[in-house]
Amino acid sequence: MTPVSLVASRPDLETVRTGALGCTACGLAERRSNVVFGEGAPDSPLVLVGEGPGEEEDKTGRPFVGRAGKLLDRALAECGLDRTKVYICNTVKCRACDWSTGRPVNRPPTDSETLACRQWLVPQLAAIGPEVVLCVGAPSAKNLIKRDFKITVERGRYFPCEFARTAIATLHPAYILRNAGASSDGGFSLLVADIAKAWEAATRLREGRTSSVESGEGSPGLQPALEL
Ligand code: URA
Repeated sequence: MTPVSLVASRPDLETVRTGALGCTACGLAERRSNVVFGEGAPDSPLVLVGEGPGEEEDKTGRPFVGRAGKLLDRALAECGLDRTKVYICNTVKCRACDWSTGRPVNRPPTDSETLACRQWLVPQLAAIGPEVVLCVGAPSAKNLIKRDFKITVERGRYFPCEFARTAIATLHPAYILRNAGASSDGGFSLLVADIAKAWEAATRLREGRTSSVESGEGSPGLQPALEL
């Protein structure tokens, strides 16, 4: 049985959502159409955390619904998954744009925007209580795993994480779209492999099954109790 003290300290996801929808903590609030809080299965053992909403996401209020999102859906499908089995959200909940040309051009969120939005991301993850966080792209990994995360070198490995029993990072689908060409899938197969690995770990951890294998690349065995 879950100890009462843990139940009491877990935030309520809908309360966090309501707070986020009214947030004015940073300048992104001024021009947003929608706060893109997150969606999916709030009881999933796996949460995917991207960078931030783009144009389609801002319009619809839903995460990963543009071109990158369609690629993410394809990768999930290759793993036998869909949005009803995982929870998907972003590091920042509002679209970051450069308006200097008079029209909005997507830009990466700044450090201060990312910091301001942790007031929603942290309780959101606490409310869901995933076994595994999959950081989708370098900005998410830098926010949730470590500041100097090197996505091309360190993707696909288990790291300690305050917000789950382990975290893994993968390539961002927008990066894959930019890199794909006639002779390369741009890293799509790596995205699929990382999602599959994260899901495997998440379901095994949720089931409470453990077996000891070597730590490092093959195992989230950063703390002995968590080894798969
Ligand atoms: N890219 C992200 O990181 N998140 C989205 O929701 C859409 C595109």
